[in-house]
Amino acid sequence: MTESLTVRDNRTGAEYEIPIVDGTIKAADLGQIKLNDDEPGLATYDPGFVNTASCRSAITFIDGDKGILEYRGYPIEQLAEKSNFLEVAYLLIHGDLPSKEQYDAWVHEITFHTFVHENVKGFMEGFRYDAHPMGMLMASVGALSTFYPESSKIADPDNRHIQIVRMIAKMPTLGAWAFRHAQGKPYVYPDNELSYAENFLSMLFKMSETKYAGDPRIVKALDTLFILHADHEQNCSTNAVRSVGSSQVDPYSAVAAGIGALFGPLHGGANEAVLKMLRRIGTVDNIPSFIEGVKNGEERLMGFGHRVYKNFDPRAKIIKKACDDVFEVTGVNPLLAVAKELERIALEDEYFVKRKLYPNVDFYSGLIYEALEFPPEMFTVLFAIGRAPGWLAQWLELVQDKEQKIARPKQIYTGPRTLDFVPAEERWA
Ligand SMILES: CC(C)(COP(=O)(O)OP(=O)(O)OC[C@H]1O[C@@H](n2cnc3c(N)ncnc32)[C@H](O)[C@@H]1OP(=O)(O)O)[C@@H](O)C(=O)NCCC(=O)NCCS
Repeated sequence: MTESLTVRDNRTGAEYEIPIVDGTIKAADLGQIKLNDDEPGLATYDPGFVNTASCRSAITFIDGDKGILEYRGYPIEQLAEKSNFLEVAYLLIHGDLPSKEQYDAWVHEITFHTFVHENVKGFMEGFRYDAHPMGMLMASVGALSTFYPESSKIADPDNRHIQIVRMIAKMPTLGAWAFRHAQGKPYVYPDNELSYAENFLSMLFKMSETKYAGDPRIVKALDTLFILHADHEQNCSTNAVRSVGSSQVDPYSAVAAGIGALFGPLHGGANEAVLKMLRRIGTVDNIPSFIEGVKNGEERLMGFGHRVYKNFDPRAKIIKKACDDVFEVTGVNPLLAVAKELERIALEDEYFVKRKLYPNVDFYSGLIYEALEFPPEMFTVLFAIGRAPGWLAQWLELVQDKEQKIARPKQIYTGPRTLDFVPAEERWA
């Protein structure tokens, strides 16, 4: 079998042979297809990158049709059940599971970098009382580059390592402080005797008690949620991290861009939107009219549909189970009945079946977060904390990949050309 594509340009009759490598053709190879030498060659038009690979990656494998998600080859179901978030973070960053010594050293490093410079506290206090915590997280992660100016030396492996450790370690501190800020409560310093997830809960919820102690079922559920969000190959925010990182900027600036992308309602903001939607629907009786509105194109069923998963989202199944564990502690959220009924009706309805729309990771996660007493604005912050190792693993892969170039797409220009500029005095005369 010849691994190539023969293309005939019907405008000129010329034929071209284009190599196929790993199921792709190089878009640059199409550039040789031209009408004449003065014109740019053929390009592909792909808004939203629906069929364009931007990199080679050995981090996360997804088979959307079969509902498979693997980090470095390990199925998400096994990692969620048997591993923990910091081990998964190690796996994503380093490419393999740690030995006992490597694991202990990694946990120690992350744990002892949880504190931030006091000036960070100072500028966080400067945000308005109602500042969205994602805006605060995005700004404060970006600002870390000013506290660690050496982070711009991205060619130095030791330097890259310490910035990665810092970012994973400090993200919960920044996220928790953004939460406390909105509540007008004093910021809580990290407790390095606690696990990653429990320390985060402590910084969020600790009041006057000397030590915070979380329910182990809640701590485990939060840790699982972080694992489920840890990476998802070339999604919108990862693409943002890679795109900004391709300019060789420091990792804090690149990750801040990822946080910005995650903020949007079509990406990480979806679970917040799900909860608002469930509240608006309110009771099971209102579901049929809501579904009609979705089918008429008046709105979207948030938490349904995915660019990649067209069968089921494996993370949604694990989250449903985590829901049960959390509700055992907190009592059942009445909106769960609305969500379950919505899912049941949608999965039987031809509109959703035909379009392969299934619940995604965000459909149930919002319910868990609400049960844990997070306001909806915090949901995406939780997603960002979980996603940090994935963004950083992707950034690390990018900066070491010799095939990568600065991200700079083409455009199809549709505006006017060669207009004569008339000065304002003449135009307005
Ligand atoms: C995730 C999402 C952005 C993927 O978008 P996409 O791959 O570009 O899919 P499209 O927008 O092309 O949708 C394909 C079709 O399904 C419909 N569709 C997709 N998601 C839908 C939803 N949640 N509710 C209703 N209809 C939906 C579209 O209207 C379109 O219908 P059409 O063919 O009649 O025009 C999209 O499914 C969505 O907006 N979901 C809700 C937001 C969400 O939960 N995001 C979190 C993702 S983890």
